[in-house]
Amino acid sequence: MKPWKPGASRVALTYFFRDLGSLELAISHVMPQISGRSRIRVWDAGCAMGQEPFTLAMLLAEALGPRMFGNVEIIASDYDKSVIEVLDAAVYADEELQRVPELYFKRYLEASGSEGTHRVAEPIRKAVRSVHHDLLSFTPVCDRLSLIVCKNVLLHFNQAERIKVFKVFHDALEPQGLLVTEHTQKLPAEAGHLFSQVTPQCQLFCKTEVGASIQVPNESTGERRNA
Ligand SMILES: C[S@@+](CC[C@H](N)C(=O)[O-])C[C@H]1O[C@@H](n2cnc3c(N)ncnc32)[C@H](O)[C@@H]1O
Repeated sequence: MKPWKPGASRVALTYFFRDLGSLELAISHVMPQISGRSRIRVWDAGCAMGQEPFTLAMLLAEALGPRMFGNVEIIASDYDKSVIEVLDAAVYADEELQRVPELYFKRYLEASGSEGTHRVAEPIRKAVRSVHHDLLSFTPVCDRLSLIVCKNVLLHFNQAERIKVFKVFHDALEPQGLLVTEHTQKLPAEAGHLFSQVTPQCQLFCKTEVGASIQVPNESTGERRNA
């Protein structure tokens, strides 16, 4: 299939190694929890055309080393079905890959057989499973997750939807599991008891073990009810 090019889809643009600082912080905080595990689950919710989950996979491969990285599963989900085909092919135009640092390019990208493009290397592709999933179904893709990355997605939702999605993330994480969102995405007060912020440097949250009920405002009446 043809590599994805900017403008070729209705899905909003993103790029490889976007907001590297937040991803690196999330990985450094999750490392003590996942080191030595035989199964490590990560969810990238709203993954667009794969740049973020593949970036995450490359960073985890470097942090964990090849043997431990074999235990990683990154579930990359989006409500746009076309994402699945693009992630499974994992072929990107070279101009899309300009932000990939040289070390990562050499280790984790390979010739695709088609001029002007490269393919994400097999160990990275193998770790990323693409899934069609609507966050507004308020169901998780799986449970016992160590890390959830959900960046530049929640801004599209109203406050009641955001609160409910934070609750889904809370329930899907293992104890002490981590959630990272974009810088502009503050934790809604109604979900404040579900997470504690790990560092002021980015929106990185740790699941708390307190009671998990939430109060959701009714968007039209402003009334609050338990969910
Ligand atoms: C701006 S992109 C963010 C990509 C990546 N997370 C990043 O930060 O670079 C937003 C993505 O969220 C997806 N999205 C929007 N609403 C969604 C929903 N209800 N469920 C799942 N994905 C959704 C869009 O299809 C799009 O791929």
